[in-house]
Amino acid sequence: MNRLTRSTFVLAATLALSAPAVAEEATPALKDVFADDFRIGVALGEHQILGREPGVLGLVARQFNAVTAENVMKWAELQPVEGDYDWAAADAMVDFAADHEMRVTGHTLLWHQQTPDWVFEDADGNPVSREQLLERLENHIHAVVGRYKDRVRSWDVVNEAVNDDGSMRDTPWYRILGEDYVTEAFRIAAEADPTATLLYNDYSLFLPAKRNGVVRLMKKVQAAGVKVDGVGLQGHYGLGHPEDMQDLADSIAAFAGLGLKSSITELDIAVLPFPSPDHFGADLNVNMALNEQYNPYTEGLPADVAAQQAARYRQVFEVLLAHADDVERVTFWGVHDGHSWKNGWPMAGRTDYPLLFDRQLQPKAAFWSVVGLKGVTPAE
Ligand code: XIL
Repeated sequence: MNRLTRSTFVLAATLALSAPAVAEEATPALKDVFADDFRIGVALGEHQILGREPGVLGLVARQFNAVTAENVMKWAELQPVEGDYDWAAADAMVDFAADHEMRVTGHTLLWHQQTPDWVFEDADGNPVSREQLLERLENHIHAVVGRYKDRVRSWDVVNEAVNDDGSMRDTPWYRILGEDYVTEAFRIAAEADPTATLLYNDYSLFLPAKRNGVVRLMKKVQAAGVKVDGVGLQGHYGLGHPEDMQDLADSIAAFAGLGLKSSITELDIAVLPFPSPDHFGADLNVNMALNEQYNPYTEGLPADVAAQQAARYRQVFEVLLAHADDVERVTFWGVHDGHSWKNGWPMAGRTDYPLLFDRQLQPKAAFWSVVGLKGVTPAE
């Protein structure tokens, strides 16, 4: 970032930090409450990173000790055109994190979503050769990981390579490179930064079949002598799933059995009904038009639903605390309910309440139920 951009950012961030004083300063900080257990992280949107949402960066600095970019470190954002990188927003987030001693996770080096078409095509629009695609992957990973070598200490290297049934997902990466593209991506990432923590990241990893698929895949990477350090369980949950929390516990244990630490990388618990039972998870290909029947809480979150959500959050954290030795970090996918992708997925234009802070940045029942597990209660 040049000096002008940086000072504009610092000014904006300072304004945002000093925005609404509220009684929020008295709220216990998640990062302190769970300091002995795991890091507590949060995903930041571009406007938030740039200090354009009053109060948000202040809350983030007080509450969290890890950050992930919700979008700005994805391939389409960093390298929309071959060789033409745009670092501005990613740099701003990394600077913010450094100023507040937060750990940064780079999300994500290889994915089938939010990746420009040019990556997979030659000049005539035909699929590129294996060699060409590997070269592009290598260039991208070296440029991105290299730039942030000392400041981004963990990377979601590969995102969502496995289907819910444990088979490999059919994507251009898989079609052009074959299954060992996952191993190749980890090999390149480890070359670019041998000391970074390298994760495989996916959703619905509590499903036994999907867990087994990922175990198989991680074993292949390890058998090739390539470094992989952990698994990111995205954690896009709902009031009805995971149906059995034991499945989540079993997945953490299975990954630990391979010497891999787990992180919950994108935690949110939607309260809205899923329009179809097949559409839990987080497949971005699902995109349904608004149907008000599935949008019942536009006027606010009813207390009984807030209580159900608080109980779900509590169950999830009970599992994570019981396995704290194998869990490195728990990152929420958004700061507050007003800025959550769940308002737009799997159905556009709904009003969801998936996070611990409400639209006014105040802690919800779910917040208190989670910190309550550590004996922390609201001040009288
Ligand atoms: C989502 C972002 O939150 C949205 O802003 C964007 O429009 C689509 O992607 N799994 C992931 C995340 O790994 O990158 C996705 O983030 C949510 C599902």
